[in-house]
Amino acid sequence: MIPEVWAKSHGVVTTRSARDHSYRRGHIASSKAFAATPNRLDIAVHNPRGQMNFPSLFSPLQIGPYRLEHRVVMAPLTRMRADRATLAPRPLNAEYYGQRATSGGLIIAEASPVMASGYGNPGVPGIYSDAQIRGWREVVEAVHAKGGLIFLQLWHVGRVSHSSFQPEGALPISASAVAISPELKTMTADRKVTPYETPRALATSEIAGVVESFRQAAINALKAGFDGVEIHGANGYLIEQFLQSRTNLRTDQYGGSIENRARFLMEITQAVVGVWGANRVGVRLSPYGIANDSGEADPMPLYGHVVRSLDLLGLAYLHLIEPRSSGAGRAEVNHQNVPSAMVLFRPIWRGALITAGGFTGEAAEAAIAAGHAGAIAFGRIFISNPDLPRRLREGWPLTPYNRATFYGGDKTGYTDYPIYAELERA
Ligand code: FNR
Repeated sequence: MIPEVWAKSHGVVTTRSARDHSYRRGHIASSKAFAATPNRLDIAVHNPRGQMNFPSLFSPLQIGPYRLEHRVVMAPLTRMRADRATLAPRPLNAEYYGQRATSGGLIIAEASPVMASGYGNPGVPGIYSDAQIRGWREVVEAVHAKGGLIFLQLWHVGRVSHSSFQPEGALPISASAVAISPELKTMTADRKVTPYETPRALATSEIAGVVESFRQAAINALKAGFDGVEIHGANGYLIEQFLQSRTNLRTDQYGGSIENRARFLMEITQAVVGVWGANRVGVRLSPYGIANDSGEADPMPLYGHVVRSLDLLGLAYLHLIEPRSSGAGRAEVNHQNVPSAMVLFRPIWRGALITAGGFTGEAAEAAIAAGHAGAIAFGRIFISNPDLPRRLREGWPLTPYNRATFYGGDKTGYTDYPIYAELERA
């Protein structure tokens, strides 16, 4: 449960109990409200005297061995534009990341499956073959050429997949054989809309192999030249399927108690730390999230334990997704009456904390100035504003994003969003 008194003193609305997931049903209503204000992002203040906006957001921050020059982080964003045959990044992807790189700025590259069973979508770049390592190296070089830093997000989707994406057409794997609600649909490899299948529960003896794939992917990311890696423990994917009781019905050492459900994440984290050292590894979590039919009935005991356990490792950072934006990859959401992840977890996390979800420059500045977060990751507005840090700092207006071009396709809606100077000339 959210500690009520403390949450109130931090301005967190707790009118619904943590057990009440009725905000799942608020999806459509709230997305309409959001869509009705398309210009809400154009609220940046014009800055005719050239003074810098947001002094906290544009102050340095230490992340592991790296000194960030500012705290505008690019959130991991699946864009499904890798080479379709090899699932390796291609020059277009390097151009996209290079456009968004800034000196001393941190990019967290899109979620990348660590093994062939980790896919649920076409055109997603992986990190388990030589061609993929080569493709990523070009991406990394484009970011480094501008003095930027880039971490790679390591991913396994678990049950958020379909057999048409799986090796030999097998069922997707998960902690237990629990299907995603039939209300949520997915797409097959030949683009048919269909309900999710009931996944196959991993046998206890198979789990070490999945952990090993994360370790090998971490080695591959090191070979590709990344500055660090982030473990994707959020948004209802495989790691979260192990964490949460709705998807983990196991009776072995990976199920049951909170300690057991957290074991998979902890083993993966320790394996990846063994490759990179703790201070170049981050973990992403989405407590109170509902993406992909996830959600723990009573999140605080679980996530309190997880965050405290990770804290002992001395990681580069903890990366949270604010519950108000849970599911932003699928739809425009702005969930009401949900807690603030950064406010809840900052007090129990000693290291650097990054959070994401519906931030404007103003909200990011306020969060950092109040000490709730060290840095803010921006997703959707980084898609449509390749020069986002500069625009925020100068108070220049933001270009709205086009959701229709988020996933798949070519340069449209990917590398063709203008930088501000180009807009001025147009
Ligand atoms: C996402 N998000 C996401 N999260 C993640 O951990 N790994 C990923 O690969 C993706 N992919 C992705 C694609 C697209 C198109 C969207 C819109 C979102 C979630 C993202 O990182 C971020 O947490 C949310 O978008 C909320 O931040 P904003 O967009 O409100 O700044």
